[in-house]
Amino acid sequence: MKKKLIVANWKLNGNIEMISNYLKFLKNNLLSNLNKNIIVIAPPNIYLERTYQSIKKINIFLGAQNVDVNLKGAFTGEVSVLMLKDIGVKYVIIGHSERRILHNETDNFVAKKFHLIKNSNLIPILCIGETEKEKKNGKTQKVIEKQLNCIFQILGEKAFRNAVIAYEPIWAIGTGVSADPEYVQIIHKFIRNYIQKNDSVSKNVIIQYGGSVSSLNTKEFIQQEDIDGLLIGSASLHAKEFLKIIKISCSID
Ligand code: PGA
Repeated sequence: MKKKLIVANWKLNGNIEMISNYLKFLKNNLLSNLNKNIIVIAPPNIYLERTYQSIKKINIFLGAQNVDVNLKGAFTGEVSVLMLKDIGVKYVIIGHSERRILHNETDNFVAKKFHLIKNSNLIPILCIGETEKEKKNGKTQKVIEKQLNCIFQILGEKAFRNAVIAYEPIWAIGTGVSADPEYVQIIHKFIRNYIQKNDSVSKNVIIQYGGSVSSLNTKEFIQQEDIDGLLIGSASLHAKEFLKIIKISCSID
């Protein structure tokens, strides 16, 4: 059975009441045997510690949605990877298209974060993917190569050991229109081959899909050979729906 990584990205959502009800529900209903699959919740930073206190007793890991490129110092409003590690974070999402677009984060900037996260022995979840226009113009693979090359340039051959890639076509995020699972399989295979070509060590890198995933399409995605997990936004905000996604994912080989 392949090991799958299911990640809830809550983005800028949630409050104390929602989180407490959500985590209580998961605690009472989560499968006792996750079959080596890994579940991660990435709440907004301000709720990380509260979330950690609940999930550390069950089989769920803590994720952060972003991190600064600096470790400490005069950087008002930022949070460093050391701080995230200090409070129990294990996975850090970087390069999400919302940050690339709304905060002008470049491939290089994202690669610096990737480096810092790996140096701190946390696991980066590197989001990559093309826009609708790039897809229409047949540029998907070129875009992905460029996004991966920046990481290889800074970290060299073993860059993707203990790292996660989330393929998130931008046109499928938050639209309710997910990508075709067969199309995603082709892109994931391309990503895996590209990594193998440049990095003999990281053959088994986890490659997740993200973009309008719900319990209705989970099975079709997880069944694909090279889809090793899911990064879920809006559907992960509802505990029952997230649990359904977990259960479906864990039931598939
Ligand atoms: P979505 O978001 O599931 O709401 O499309 C996915 C993501 O942005 O990670």
